[in-house]
Amino acid sequence: MIGRSIISATEFGKVAVLMGGRSAEREISLTSGQAVLDALTKQNIDAYKVDVGLDISEQLVSGKFDRAFIILHGRGGEDGEIQGVLESLSIPYTGSDITGAVLSMNKTLSKDLWLQQGLATADFEQVTAGSDADALVARLGLPLIIKPVNEGSSIGMTKVNSASELAKAIEVATEFDAEVIAERWIEGEEYTVGILGQQALTVIQLKTPNEFYDFEAKYQSNTTEYLCPCGLTQQDEILCQKIALDAFNGLRMTGWGRIDFMRDQSGQFYLLEANCIPGMTDHSLVPMAAKEAGLSFDDLVLTILETSMGVKA
Ligand SMILES: Nc1ncnc2c1ncn2[C@@H]1O[C@H](COP(=O)(O)OP(=O)(O)O)[C@@H](O)[C@H]1O
Ligand SMILES: [Mg+2]
Repeated sequence: MIGRSIISATEFGKVAVLMGGRSAEREISLTSGQAVLDALTKQNIDAYKVDVGLDISEQLVSGKFDRAFIILHGRGGEDGEIQGVLESLSIPYTGSDITGAVLSMNKTLSKDLWLQQGLATADFEQVTAGSDADALVARLGLPLIIKPVNEGSSIGMTKVNSASELAKAIEVATEFDAEVIAERWIEGEEYTVGILGQQALTVIQLKTPNEFYDFEAKYQSNTTEYLCPCGLTQQDEILCQKIALDAFNGLRMTGWGRIDFMRDQSGQFYLLEANCIPGMTDHSLVPMAAKEAGLSFDDLVLTILETSMGVKA
């Protein structure tokens, strides 16, 4: 059982809820940020919305904030940039530090580290516009998936079913990031595991009639199903949670986060990627899993805020 906050509201001081930003996930962040702000305000925390722009240092200094709740998604928020700004201003903040953010945002670095730890992740290669499609397909097979390395929310991703579709898919991903990878397609079920402190939360299974859990399935569709409890045997659920925690720690993530998985038809789990600042709308995945563990959305938000005080959840 995860503990509820034992810190009184005034001890947190003046809290900046950092949201928005300039990434492709700006709108999602504003929704998550508003939900966090409402939960903090409801619990008598002196919290303020701060939309992150180029003047963020000035906003933080002139606002005389005591700490920051970072609820930015994607670039500028999950990649170490805002963490660096806050470090330079000596303002404590929630979640992973610069290192954890850098390692979890970059899918190539994450996967390299996981392989070094002996954790399974789908085979992959860096690709460019000039990549030899037939040679790549000979190595990774079909279908495969093309992804920008530093992006989120399935943005810029394409499932490729034939070698002739590869060039277009790489072009699309390159619009979002200079670094692009091709990954072996894992046919099977999809799972995600929220982490709070050093606790892996209840596993959630995601089901979509789309080709994969794309942007539409994540935010717009009403045909996406979330299974929590997820239907795994107890033994497999424990295994999945253990891999998630090892993967989280391997990337030096701290405080909270979420680890995404595929599981193939033989039952093997493959790590997909890590999120150091997952969605926090009232229908997001970490809140859903926390609820199963007996933590309400409000409890969860306070527990995350506590991670800025070095308190272990
Ligand atoms: N190797 C893969 N095999 C099958 N599906 C995949 C694979 N990689 C990604 N996907 C699908 O694409 C979605 C987004 O990929 P993910 O790596 O989690 O990136 P993001 O950071 O955008 O969430 C996943 O939720 C999954 O549905
Ligand atoms: Mg994901």
